[in-house]
This record gives sequence, structure tokens and C-alpha cells, in this order.
Amino acid sequence: MLSLVVLASGRGSNFLAIQEAIEAGTLDAKIVLLLSDKPEAKALSIARAHGIPAKAFPPSAFSDQNAYEQALLDEIRQGPCDLIILAGYMKILGAAFIEAAPAPILNIHPSLLPSFPGLHAQRQAVQYGVKVSGCTVHFVDSGLDSGPIIAQRAVPVYGDDNEESLSARILVEEHQLYSEVLRWFAAGRVELDGRIVTITEGSI
Ligand code: GRF
Repeated sequence: MLSLVVLASGRGSNFLAIQEAIEAGTLDAKIVLLLSDKPEAKALSIARAHGIPAKAFPPSAFSDQNAYEQALLDEIRQGPCDLIILAGYMKILGAAFIEAAPAPILNIHPSLLPSFPGLHAQRQAVQYGVKVSGCTVHFVDSGLDSGPIIAQRAVPVYGDDNEESLSARILVEEHQLYSEVLRWFAAGRVELDGRIVTITEGSI
């Protein structure tokens, strides 16, 4: 069973979708800890409602980014951790954190990377005028949404879309894709070679 530590800053719908897949018995994993940099994040109350240990970790409580990230690492190291899952975690993790992390770090981003990294990816897509967008689950490296791509799902972009309507369409796919990727990890099917990710054949 995969032990997951989730980092989330806000609404927590991706985190909840993963937890629901676990509760439905379709994902062999356990979320052992939910950490949030925002004490008011809805993700914290979702965690508590589902009996998941949850802690607010406001960066302002620490002297600098390094001290904050060291404390985060100390917290993560308290228990088992096979993967660190960023689910709407809005702070950039420093290279020192990424190097010292006890497990690979995954992120979900609401665009087809490498298009539209960074904030407001859906708004960027609408304003650019692309006809297809989507979401990407990727390994986290020290760049901005630049790590090896594990999986992507595409959605159409319509002429009358705005940031909100496109975000809603993408979010439906995000909720399915993150759990799907975690199933591959749980089955030991994810291989990384350089920046190329291969999903090996699964047994039935
Ligand atoms: C999602 O769109 C995710 O792709 C992005 O931030 C948003 C988080 O939403 N990284 P939620 O907190 O999971 O509802």
C-alpha cells in the first residue's frame, strides 16, 4: 500500500478525489498526512472530516523559506512516505527541499505542459486562444512546472469559454487523472529514465 503525504493550499478537491478513490477501494493507498501552508485552507477541514492527520504550516511562523522547508521535511520524515503529492499547493518548493525529500514529489497542473506553466494556466490558455487544453501530472523538479511528465488528459476549449468554464472542464479530468496515476505507482508500473516516464504493462 502506498503511503502518501499531501500538500495543499486551498480548496482541496484533488486531495478529496484521491481520498474518495481510496475509500471506494479503487486505489491501494493511504494518505498519512495532509500539510497546508494556509491555516484557513478547506483541505485541512476535509482531512479532519476523513480522519486524516492534518497540520497547518504557515511559512510566516518560520524565519525564512529554508527553515520552513526544513520543518516540513522533519514533519514528513515522522512517518512512512512513498510519494509527496502536491494538490493545489501554491508555494514553490526550493531545490534543497526537493533534493532532501524522502520520496518523489508529484504535482498536478491545469494545462498541457509545457504550455502555460505557472499561475492562472486556464486563463493563459483562454487568452492564447488554444483549441485544446487539459491537465498534466508530473514529477516535481526545481523548475516551474518543468519536471518529467507522467500523464496528461486533454479537453476542448470552446469559443465562448472563459477561465471559469475551462477550469471546471479541466477539473473533472484532474480528479480522475491523479488517482489513475497513483494506481500506476501502487502497481509499480512507473519508470523514469532521464525525463522520459514509461508506464509499464500492468498485470490484470
Ligand atoms: C487545481 O486546478 C490544480 O491543477 C492546481 O491548483 C488547483 C487546485 O485545486 N495545481 P484543488 O485545491 O485541488 O481543488
